[in-house]
Amino acid sequence: MTGSRKDDHVRLAVAQHETSGTALGRTSLMASQFDEVHFVHHALAGTDRERVSLRTRFGGLDWPLPLYINAMTGGTPKTGEINQGLAIAARETGIPIASGSMSPYLKDASTAATFTPLRELNPHGFVMANVNTNATVEQARRAVTLLKADALQIHLNSVQETVMPEGDRSFGHWPAAIESITAAVDVPVIVKEVGFGLSGQTVTQLASLGVDVADVAGRGGTNFARIENGRRPHSDYFYLEDWGLSTPAALLDARGHGLPLLASGGVRHPLDVARALALGAHAAGVSGIFLTTLITGGIDALIQQITTWLEHLTSLMTLLGARTPAALTGCDVVITGSLHQFCHTHHIG
Ligand code: FNR
Repeated sequence: MTGSRKDDHVRLAVAQHETSGTALGRTSLMASQFDEVHFVHHALAGTDRERVSLRTRFGGLDWPLPLYINAMTGGTPKTGEINQGLAIAARETGIPIASGSMSPYLKDASTAATFTPLRELNPHGFVMANVNTNATVEQARRAVTLLKADALQIHLNSVQETVMPEGDRSFGHWPAAIESITAAVDVPVIVKEVGFGLSGQTVTQLASLGVDVADVAGRGGTNFARIENGRRPHSDYFYLEDWGLSTPAALLDARGHGLPLLASGGVRHPLDVARALALGAHAAGVSGIFLTTLITGGIDALIQQITTWLEHLTSLMTLLGARTPAALTGCDVVITGSLHQFCHTHHIG
């Protein structure tokens, strides 16, 4: 069952991004609250390109680049091949990478080979293992050990579980599970959503549980309510496809709540990366778009896309006069439209 679900996720996620036009570098046709974050142009603010560094340090981590391949897959022969392609792209570009949920491996160790390429093909890269909140402390340690992981991601996906007929229906134990795993593993712990966003209230709670970093993984990109609805003949929970905080809204709500933030969820191009960094994220993660490029264009196309994104981000930072990713938080931005309305009603200054 898990295997076909993993392959379904890939197929339906790629379909979402192919229809939305976000793959292969085209700007998303989908409306995004990222478009309501506007840099104010200051014509004399620019700096020199050679003075711009993309290095980003946060939560005890030191990344050479503020872009990463976020959690996706593993557990079947097909997804194992995808992980090989993603690992090579991460190795060739130097960006960090996360595995998909390692539940398949934790249930059946024979699937290890669909995850291990993330480390075997990327021996010097920053690799994150990924588990859910049902993982025991022992299982979390096994996931980290298998990938010689530099960090552990724990994902929160209560909306996706709710839409799945076979999904979890008990979420009350999740905080205690996070706290015990975080106390037991000897690598930094990043808690992430899967596309519905982390609020400021949630990030405050995660900080109290000992978590090191929060990845807001907001609405606007790959939509797991739509994926799970799409796996069944009729979409019972069609009305959950608009649930959750967009990534910009989550960043605005969660910043200053005690944890360094990462931004993922609907990051469509280098300008969205710059916008996310300006709103306080230390790096931006991408899943669906990079997966779609890999599937439709191959490994070289993905390497080229990531390389272009990094070059364009450097150009944007040069234009804006931001010599480091953190310096982007000092740039003037204007928030408009529904995002401004959200900030107003949510008393976000
Ligand atoms: C995901 N995502 C995900 N997240 C996670 O923590 N564990 C997982 O196993 C998966 N599986 C998965 C499979 C596929 C095919 C996709 C596209 C995504 C969620 C992912 O990490 C990310 O949070 C969301 O996809 C939002 O980012 P994008 O896709 O809009 O860039």
